[in-house]
Amino acid sequence: MPKLTVNDVNVRGKRVFVRVDYNVPMAEKDGQMVINDATRIKETLPTLKALIAGGAKTILAAHLGRPEGKRDPSLSLRPVAAKLADLLARPVAFVDDCVGEKVEKTVEALKEGDVLLLENTRFYAEEEANDVAFSTRLARVADIYVNDAFGAAHRGHASTQGVASVVKARGGICAAGLLMDRELKFLGDELESPARPFVVILGGAKVSDKILVIDRLLEKADTILVGGAMAYTFRLVQGYKTGKSLVEPDAVSVAARALAKAADRGVRFLLPSDNVIATPVDSGKLNKKGKPVFEFQNARLNSSLDIPDDAEGFDIGPETAKRYAEVIRQAKTILWNGPMGMFEDSRFAAGTNEVARAVVDATQKGGAKSIIGGGDSVKALNQAGMGDKVTFMSTGGGASLEFLEGAELPGVVVLAEKR
Ligand code: 3PG
Repeated sequence: MPKLTVNDVNVRGKRVFVRVDYNVPMAEKDGQMVINDATRIKETLPTLKALIAGGAKTILAAHLGRPEGKRDPSLSLRPVAAKLADLLARPVAFVDDCVGEKVEKTVEALKEGDVLLLENTRFYAEEEANDVAFSTRLARVADIYVNDAFGAAHRGHASTQGVASVVKARGGICAAGLLMDRELKFLGDELESPARPFVVILGGAKVSDKILVIDRLLEKADTILVGGAMAYTFRLVQGYKTGKSLVEPDAVSVAARALAKAADRGVRFLLPSDNVIATPVDSGKLNKKGKPVFEFQNARLNSSLDIPDDAEGFDIGPETAKRYAEVIRQAKTILWNGPMGMFEDSRFAAGTNEVARAVVDATQKGGAKSIIGGGDSVKALNQAGMGDKVTFMSTGGGASLEFLEGAELPGVVVLAEKR
């Protein structure tokens, strides 16, 4: 059942408490924190514009990073308020707390159409503990609760779940924001009965991270294309040599079950037939976490299914990329989660880029719906300059994965359904 959205609610004159996911990448520059990628902020603009036009008094709450219950100036949301004001072309007030007198006084002074951003909710340990007293304090400024933070909806925290429960218990409305609504539509409804062929592209490092998604998608997909380091665990199951590639011996039995299920259901389950490999060499240096840093030397093409003993696989090879691209270009629905290789290094980006081009072609020329399931695949598409040429890119990382696994997300469950 679809969720009630901000468009279904009369917000005029109401204090609308909106949970957004402004957990954006930031870096210090000349003593100031600078936002590196404002996508998550931009994606909330439709919700905010609807609330402003509807005459709401909008109070935004969000987390940034993992400060573990302590104030950390480098994780303040103040720079986000400035960025949001730029994007909205109107003032955005900011309070350096998310509960308490200062917040309540500022909210009292808000007029219809005004927007206020509160400080990082994770400066309080009670946020992640989903503390009832803390949720009640947050809810003191909420007539209506809106969740537009799909990326944080897998967290059952005070601002994603607790406040909603308090508002609901008072008889108040809990609705989805328009970004949340789109995420649920594309990652949920669109994949329930997809136009066929339905092609799923899965990559990333570990089979164990994706096994629940693989298992669920094996019930729906026509073809699954596998890339990234997780492909080597499947090759291990089939008895091939994987050299120094990242494999998970513990995941061999789940990988074997997935292969058997694919065969059983007649789902085409394609693995790379060639790859780009390199020899990892210890540089003698340590990274920030004290772990040895490796250099990847002698990057080369490997056209065998076995990987030499001294080498590690880092990308799908050109023959695989061509084969995958042909399948993708025929698709009518595409779901992509996880890159085909270590695309951050240009020597290992060709496979991911070729797949990205095929996804864009299928969308633009073939009329396919292409849904990018968040995280690294979004980064890869943006790096290749093709982020705006697909049907939908999720703003969620962990949340998209859990949602695709079929999990009920705490931040979604609390929202009212449309009648
Ligand atoms: C994310 O960036 O994936 C979300 O904002 C959730 O952040 P978290 O993993 O720190 O809870």
